[in-house]
Amino acid sequence: MQGKLMKTEVSFVCRECGGKTLKWMGRCPNCGQWNSIEEKVSTVCAKGRSYTSDDVSGPVPISLIPNDRSPRLFTGVDELDRVLGGGLIKRSVILVGGDPGIGKSTLLMQALGSMASLGENVLYVSGEESLEQIKIRADRLGISSKSFLVVADNGLERILDLMRQTDASVVVLDSAQSISSQSVDSHAGSLSQVRYVAAASIEIIKRSASACFLVGHVTKDGALAGPKVLEHMVDTVLYFEGDRGHPYRILRAVKNRFGSVSEIGVFEMTDTGLSQVSNPSEFFLSERPEGSSGSVVTALIEGSRPILAEIQTLVSGPTPGSGRRTCLGTDPQRLALLVAVIEKKLGLTISDKDIFLNAVGGVRATEPGVDLCIIASIISSFTDRIIPFSSMVFGEVGLSGEVRPVAKALARVNEASRLGYSRILGPRKNLDSCTPPEGSSFIPITHIRELPAILFD
Ligand code: TYD
Ligand code: MG
Repeated sequence: MQGKLMKTEVSFVCRECGGKTLKWMGRCPNCGQWNSIEEKVSTVCAKGRSYTSDDVSGPVPISLIPNDRSPRLFTGVDELDRVLGGGLIKRSVILVGGDPGIGKSTLLMQALGSMASLGENVLYVSGEESLEQIKIRADRLGISSKSFLVVADNGLERILDLMRQTDASVVVLDSAQSISSQSVDSHAGSLSQVRYVAAASIEIIKRSASACFLVGHVTKDGALAGPKVLEHMVDTVLYFEGDRGHPYRILRAVKNRFGSVSEIGVFEMTDTGLSQVSNPSEFFLSERPEGSSGSVVTALIEGSRPILAEIQTLVSGPTPGSGRRTCLGTDPQRLALLVAVIEKKLGLTISDKDIFLNAVGGVRATEPGVDLCIIASIISSFTDRIIPFSSMVFGEVGLSGEVRPVAKALARVNEASRLGYSRILGPRKNLDSCTPPEGSSFIPITHIRELPAILFD
């Protein structure tokens, strides 16, 4: 190891007993042996020093690496900060993936805009849009800070030079697919270009004091390399999802070296950019129809938060052969399993029917806690009976139809009660151990066969 903080140290050690002396001696004061003291030269870490990546290129004792306690940098967009695990970490690279047009550039410009207004120097590099186009978006988002620097360029070498020269605390490269290097002999967006662009920018960021967002478009046709090929290289991977026909967008962490991956951030796309939805339950239920069969509310746990979502089912048919299954925001395998359980345990013939299952609003209702709600919703649509509007149903269902307890039951119940969903159907084991919030009634369930009799009361 040739670190500048290493030094050589001379010590005198007894060959026989291993005892150390300060100077050479004819006889070891420890064991009394004659002529056993030898001079030993060793390379040691300089006392009181600690090591960072910049100091050394070889191995160092782990105890001498300082804890990186540099504070996180807040982007000012709370939902983004939460998904990041509580703000940005210096020297980290965050990949933001999503379909074209979903709002990635808008989200990152807003985050940079809010940091710039707090006095941080930020750099936005666009390989896709001209300065004029960027300005139009900035005007729409109300961004006009002097510390917000913009570059419209797609040459990697020039961009890297800029990143080295400017002292921006955050850099956005929008997008990895539009920037290309002269040293790679293929078109922008190809697998080798995208990987090279990411690797080169990561190397610079790791040696700087900045953080970097790298935008990656999700691609369907294979001509361009999508963000998946970069996931292993970066520290954090966020996906921005949503249906372009609807205003809501969900930001999800799928990898995070510095935080949890279960947090989500919910946004609404408006005429003046993305606005944060701090109360997703209300938002997801805002357009819920009254008096319709097949519609039930459940409580999901997303990260640390409970979120209420509407599950809708439409059972139609029968169709010749076996029925079609369409799942939006829900797990088709789970549906197949629940359909088999319903047939076997409740005696309803639904395998020949078409079943359309939708978790409304783009939420992902794939956790097992949604099972009982899916079953309730199928029974409601199949029998064309309406479940009382104020019901919330949650619980995992096993293969023999037993209703199993789920995690964070109290958080789910409280969220339901807060929004007026006062009739709560859930696993007996969960409900027996919580006290109903004021005004709520609990209907504990042990087996799905109890469901048809109590669901519609
Ligand atoms: P954009 O951020 O350009 O998407 P991406 O970078 O993911 O490709 O957003 C594109 C869409 O967002 C576009 O259809 C216009 C819409 N939009 C608004 O509705 N309001 C706004 O304030 C902005 C800036 C964009
Ligand atoms: Mg964009």
